[in-house]
Amino acid sequence: MAFKVGLLSPQGSPGRRQTAVAKITPLAYFRMESVKKPTVLALKRKKGEHLAMLTAYDFPTARLVAEAGVDLILVGDSLGMVVLGYDSTVPVTVNDMVHHTRAARRGAPDAFLIADMPFLSYASAEQALQSAARLMKGAGADSVKVEGGVEVAPIVEALVTAGVPVLGHVGLTPQTASALGGYRLQGKDEASVRRIVDGAVALEKAGCWGVVLELVPAELAKLVTNRIGIPTIGIGAGAHCDGQVLVFHDVVGLFSGFTPTFVKRYTEAGEAIRDAVKRYADEVRSGAFPAREQSFSIDAEVLRRLYGT
Ligand code: KIV
Repeated sequence: MAFKVGLLSPQGSPGRRQTAVAKITPLAYFRMESVKKPTVLALKRKKGEHLAMLTAYDFPTARLVAEAGVDLILVGDSLGMVVLGYDSTVPVTVNDMVHHTRAARRGAPDAFLIADMPFLSYASAEQALQSAARLMKGAGADSVKVEGGVEVAPIVEALVTAGVPVLGHVGLTPQTASALGGYRLQGKDEASVRRIVDGAVALEKAGCWGVVLELVPAELAKLVTNRIGIPTIGIGAGAHCDGQVLVFHDVVGLFSGFTPTFVKRYTEAGEAIRDAVKRYADEVRSGAFPAREQSFSIDAEVLRRLYGT
């Protein structure tokens, strides 16, 4: 493994740093920095910066997303819909999340990886700790995400006290969408606005390093962003959040189910894939594939000697 080594000035103070791929001596090892992922403290300090977060649920996608240079990768329980074919996130299990988080981690070993705690995996502090242990120790997540506001603050506090970095999530919380009247804009009336603001404040107080704001009016997201000292990451929450998150399959056009209006589709990968697969099948049927370039050959003499052909 090659490490970036920060060289010291003669006085031993970290002077002008040079980066070199060097043989690791004991002294260099002491000062060594591997290619760095942000710490939770560094993420908190990114308040006011535009953090780009995207979901990824498997090895190739996580690798692509990391190579493209996003700041944060979320193994969201949205995988229940876009990968597993459920009609909500409710059936997703901790086992599902562990399986997909491991794969994403293998694809993006240096990324800051957040894993969703699925529905009913954090109903008590004890259960939350067990679920978080599986996602962090067993699957390589750097942080977990939980949905809910004031009501989950004690759970968040227990996790943070135990050393688990937690990203909160208020506004539309898909795991409990049914209780909120479906997948619809939140924070339109006074009670809902208060629930979202109080929730975000409680999550910060409980120790979250950031809060996702989903499907809320831009003005409300702005108010929350100004009111709390940790980064807000918006999805369908307008331009005033500290960061943005979208679901990978929505961004690249790989999900043909319902696509919310706040999604921006940057490419139509689904169409490109369908077209490629159709051409492959056509060429197999016509005999155009495989051609000589995709085939191997043997010295004709070998077959002639053996079988006379
Ligand atoms: O599961 C998910 O992908 C999410 C994002 C939409 C924030 O929670």
